[in-house]
Amino acid sequence: MPLRLVRAEMADIPQLVDLYFNTFKSPLVLRVKPDVPPVREWYKKSLESDIEKPHTRIYKVVEGQAESAQASDEIIAFAKWSSPHTEPQQEKPTDWSVDGDVALFKEVTDKATEKKKKIMGEKEYWYIGVLATLPKHQHRGAGSLLMTEFCKQADEAGHWSYVEASPLGRPTYQRFAFETRDTFSVVIDGEPYIDSCMVREPQIVSINVTKHAGYY
Ligand SMILES: CC(C)(COP(=O)(O)OP(=O)(O)OC[C@H]1O[C@@H](n2cnc3c(N)ncnc32)[C@H](O)[C@@H]1OP(=O)(O)O)[C@@H](O)C(=O)NCCC(=O)NCCS
Repeated sequence: MPLRLVRAEMADIPQLVDLYFNTFKSPLVLRVKPDVPPVREWYKKSLESDIEKPHTRIYKVVEGQAESAQASDEIIAFAKWSSPHTEPQQEKPTDWSVDGDVALFKEVTDKATEKKKKIMGEKEYWYIGVLATLPKHQHRGAGSLLMTEFCKQADEAGHWSYVEASPLGRPTYQRFAFETRDTFSVVIDGEPYIDSCMVREPQIVSINVTKHAGYY
């Protein structure tokens, strides 16, 4: 079955929540966002709020041809990213679900924020918040479809991009020209868990020479 990239809608959110919790199983996510109903409800509300924001874009990958598209088509992957914007106060994670490990979440957020500020300074940049493919559908190109669209948008805007990459996500970002600039770690059950701070320079968007041949 071919894979298809489509902008996600409000009606997709329940499926996106399932996909998120069925995909993210790292020791960090299991601690800060355990798969329990209150955390699922919190995540659902946060996606509902994100999807309305003008600077946030959520895309999904579904199987099948456009002609046969159904609202109930299985979503096999999704990504959420934002274009450069000034973050309003209420977007800061003060309303974090108390069912997760709040202290660990604060430690990770503080470390991530500090590194991001140090690396990006005053630059305007696009930020990838989520990239996830259901485990049974991985290695079919869904993540690449999402990343291709992300890079196209960032390159057309001529902006830098930034992501805090999990160990599983890093190879995908590397394939799309992200470079590791730094790392930060937290200790979970005595084991270090390391995220990579990755940056991508805007790439020059190629001109379709055939289409514009008359101008040369
Ligand atoms: C990271 C992640 C999103 C990648 O998604 P994916 O859909 O498997 O990505 P792709 O299929 O495009 O690429 C994965 C690999 O499959 C390969 N691949 C792509 N299409 C393929 C195809 N048709 N046949 C065989 N292999 C293929 C890619 O070359 C890539 O190879 P690599 O691992 O050697 O680089 C997925 O592993 C995931 O959700 N991980 C858990 C969540 C997570 O950690 N996300 C990152 C957050 S920072």
